[in-house]
Amino acid sequence: MNFSDKNITEPIAVFDSGVGGISVLRALLREMPNENYWYYGDSANAPYGTKRLEEVRALTISHVDSFISKGAKAVVVACNTATSAAVRLLRQKYPDVPIIGIEPALKPAALSGNHPNVIVMATPMTIREEKFHNLLERYMDVAHIISLPCPGLMEYIEQGTIRGAELEQFLIKLFEPFDKEKLDAVVLGCTHYPFVSRELKKILGGSVRLFDGGPGTARETKRRLANAGLLNPGQTRGTIQFDNSSPSKEKQELCMKLLDAPMEED
Ligand code: DGL
Repeated sequence: MNFSDKNITEPIAVFDSGVGGISVLRALLREMPNENYWYYGDSANAPYGTKRLEEVRALTISHVDSFISKGAKAVVVACNTATSAAVRLLRQKYPDVPIIGIEPALKPAALSGNHPNVIVMATPMTIREEKFHNLLERYMDVAHIISLPCPGLMEYIEQGTIRGAELEQFLIKLFEPFDKEKLDAVVLGCTHYPFVSRELKKILGGSVRLFDGGPGTARETKRRLANAGLLNPGQTRGTIQFDNSSPSKEKQELCMKLLDAPMEED
């Protein structure tokens, strides 16, 4: 099929290693409520952030192949880890399909004050990859930036735990080495983390600002669709289909719960 023939009512595929990308889906829904969405979580293979690059690359490419072959008009890779592993290759493979990735929202955090102290929370792979190193280099002169790999954190959200004593202890331990009094901003560099933003705020204090890349990714998706003439002009609310490589009633229920869960910026 020629891409210009694509039906503008076809869904936007939103992909993550699990349920984290729902934080991006929420931002997309705020930006474009009338679009149809197809959310796919690869929970059977999660976590991605502690895997080898080649493995995450292969998984991401094979999922995106399937979204495009099934007619998705655009793909949002709502996973920082999968974006750093595969988005460049995907754009080479599908030059005519809008493919939008997500990266840690370091820019607004680094520019949020006068040489602010910023911590970037992300998966070990995101922090290791070249894409993040290039991002760091761009802002290291305007902010004091510390990268904080958070292995083990996404698993809480994946199990549906977004508050409670155990999670709180995990977060306290994670931030133990840092002087919270001097901290200005925390970047939520994994799409699972916005779901624990309330717990984070409790630990970090009210003056620390949290930065989530979801809203910027949603705005970028809208721009890209508009440029490609693919925005759905429909005036009614679109549909959302949830799929998961680990299909179960519990995952389905968790997806619905996270779609409405209270988050710090809401
Ligand atoms: N949600 C993913 C991200 O944004 C990572 C979680 C995982 O390790 O699979 O990086």
